[in-house]
Amino acid sequence: MASSGFETPFCARNYDPLPVMLARGEGVYLWDVSGRRYIDMMSAYSAVSLGHAHPRILARLSEQARRLAVPSRAYHNDRLGPFLEALCKLTGLDAALPMNSGAEAVETAIKAARRWGHRVKGVASPEIIVAEGNFHGRTTTVISFSSEQEYRDGFGPFTPGFRAVPFGNLAAARAAVADRTVAMLVEPIQGEAGVIVPPRGWLAGLRRLCDERRILLLLDEIQSGLGRTGAWFAYQHENILPDGVMLGKALGGGVLPVSAFVARREVMDVFTPGSHGSTFGGNPLAAAVGLEALNVIREEGLVERARTLGAHMLRRLLAIRSPALLAVRGLGLWAGAEIDPRFASARAFCERLLEKGVLSNATHHTVVRLAPPLVISKDDLDFALDRFEEALEEVERARPSSTVIPKETLVEH
Ligand SMILES: Cc1ncc(COP(=O)(O)O)c(C=O)c1O
Repeated sequence: MASSGFETPFCARNYDPLPVMLARGEGVYLWDVSGRRYIDMMSAYSAVSLGHAHPRILARLSEQARRLAVPSRAYHNDRLGPFLEALCKLTGLDAALPMNSGAEAVETAIKAARRWGHRVKGVASPEIIVAEGNFHGRTTTVISFSSEQEYRDGFGPFTPGFRAVPFGNLAAARAAVADRTVAMLVEPIQGEAGVIVPPRGWLAGLRRLCDERRILLLLDEIQSGLGRTGAWFAYQHENILPDGVMLGKALGGGVLPVSAFVARREVMDVFTPGSHGSTFGGNPLAAAVGLEALNVIREEGLVERARTLGAHMLRRLLAIRSPALLAVRGLGLWAGAEIDPRFASARAFCERLLEKGVLSNATHHTVVRLAPPLVISKDDLDFALDRFEEALEEVERARPSSTVIPKETLVEH
């Protein structure tokens, strides 16, 4: 029987990919099986911030794979220490717990907060405050506090112990704090919700509130961290230090799942041997690649690049006057463009961009996410943005009798 080559007949239907079959990637470029080249404006949800097939990452990957890959954490290995030390120095925190996927890092933070609540704060039934519209992964506990019905439908019963408040609303967070509150767990910018940038001062306000009420501030920087917003970590835009931070995605250099929960010593010390772990977490292959990813970000100036090219990208997007573009939000090389659904769904818009050789991604039904690898050149970025404008003009022409709706402004720190 001849095969179409698509995974669809043999795969769970938990994704609905755009109609392109990719075969190769290098830097900001991806090629399909017919050899057609695309610009990657999505970076695998920021996992490929360093670009595809970064030569330094590939060299470290193959060298370490030949040397020692997965001995388990039943033994020490000579790559984990330097990696975790680098994470602590970069974040300004004291200790790290290595995991693999982002959702596992979030689960780790939740376990730390609960045990800290029980053992340090003396709370019998700890509660964690989260934000409406959050996205922290897909495990059963994590979807238990999602406000997205699609993520939860049919997967109950859910894990208790969470309370959601509106994102970016300090007064609501303050009002929700109770004696049993042990932590606030939020994304500094909500990526999957459509690149939602909170009001300036919100994170700093949460920091003060957490200090006043002896609550842990835990930030999910799995998508926002490691340069994406034009700072190593988004919390640096507000000059604060969280009690714990979750990292993932770009930490794996675009080749491996590598994540970590990094925290103050008092928080991390709630973990004792046997209380948490992962067969693959902290393996020397992941640690060597993770450390190299941090070195590449620093030595190639990718944080600075995200800041300057990101400002250029957002300036260009905000300058567009189109009735089909309702809003542009973002920070650094990370933008959400809200498409008026009367002109096109975000998905249809992404298909149009795909035809023009630009790969992007729809989040929810109306937002097109633009988050290229941080190594992108200005010319490639401008090429992709030219195609974006072209696609807007096309959807406008298909529905010409509309009026211009004022655009929401972005928040730039
Ligand atoms: C902010 C945030 N947290 C957690 C996750 C989950 O990461 P993973 O898919 O690696 O489990 C994601 C993934 O998109 C994310 O954006």
